[in-house]
Amino acid sequence: MLQQLKSDFIKIFGGHENVKAFFAPGRVNLIGEHTDYNGGHVFPCALSVGTYVIARRREDTKVRLYSTNFEEIGVIEVDLEDLAYNEKHDWANYPKGVLKIFKDQGLEIENGFDVLFFGNIPNGAGLSSSASIELATSVMLNTLFDLGVEMVDMVKYSQKAENEYIGVSCGIMDQFAIGMGKTNHAILLDCDTLKYEYSPVELGEATLVIANTNKRRGLADSKYNERRSECERALADLQTELAISSLGDLTITEFEKNKDLIKNEIDRKRAEHAVYENERTKNAVVSLKQGNIKGFGELMNQSHISLRDLYEVTGTELDALVESAWNEEGVIGSRMTGAGFGGCTVSIVENSAVERFIENVGKTYSERTGLQADFYIVSVGNGASEITLS
Ligand code: GLA
Repeated sequence: MLQQLKSDFIKIFGGHENVKAFFAPGRVNLIGEHTDYNGGHVFPCALSVGTYVIARRREDTKVRLYSTNFEEIGVIEVDLEDLAYNEKHDWANYPKGVLKIFKDQGLEIENGFDVLFFGNIPNGAGLSSSASIELATSVMLNTLFDLGVEMVDMVKYSQKAENEYIGVSCGIMDQFAIGMGKTNHAILLDCDTLKYEYSPVELGEATLVIANTNKRRGLADSKYNERRSECERALADLQTELAISSLGDLTITEFEKNKDLIKNEIDRKRAEHAVYENERTKNAVVSLKQGNIKGFGELMNQSHISLRDLYEVTGTELDALVESAWNEEGVIGSRMTGAGFGGCTVSIVENSAVERFIENVGKTYSERTGLQADFYIVSVGNGASEITLS
């Protein structure tokens, strides 16, 4: 496939020399949802699908971008000096945003480049195809221009591009998982301090299965920002009495003792989710380390219930997939993953039950929703890096 991408690159941009290749994965979060921007813990891992980039530095200041996923859009050309957001540039605003943030940091990028993108993450599925493009762009810039930026800073710049250039107020989970991912490991990340540890994804005789609702998220981004504001309001109410800087600072006991400070009932529900989900995530990682996969699965189920009833970000499609998964024999745990409102679920399924799971859950799902689900067996891959192009 890489050779095919290289020949596509040459066909579009000409020349054979000095072409480099890069890869950034997608991500799936195993537990710890809507906790990152609340200063809590998350437990995501990198996927083996992702974004491939073929690129070459230019002598002038032109930047030419092409994606084989959006052939109809063709080559987009901009100048290093004109990197303003442009709606017409569609997908290319992601790499442009990262480039702009890198330059704003004072990193020396004096030359342009030609770049081809190809992604095999299902689009709009909540597996972070956008963060994947951002990190692929970051490692490309870092290598082409010999910038010497640490991965954790590339993660922060990519998040900044998403927040400030694209205008989505996401937390740091996606970019972190994609930048720092490690084969067969998930990352327990404290989003407040950015302290992290890798934990092997060892599931015994079971495997991770992603199910895609194939429901486009639509209004999700505005709802996402609404949830953030609700949590911010809850925090402000708690801060009238407590010296905390995020909801992630609270234990369950402290929350229960002080929750009446939160005036609005909806805000209180959101905060309850954030606090309990943070505890659940830490406990889930302990269970996994002890080889207690059942315990881990049970916490995944509780996570979904909380996202459904307290945080209210699931919706008919995600609930249909998860609830039918819960009814299947051999399912150890199942929950929505990512922002919600559509996108994907992640389940731990015993190897011997996977085939039946896909058939039965797929059938029930289309009966309940009229939509067709897609299923993928997860293999946990590495974070973003240059790859060899022989
Ligand atoms: C999206 C955001 C992340 C995180 C999740 C919810 O994926 O990009 O930062 O908030 O939603 O856990």
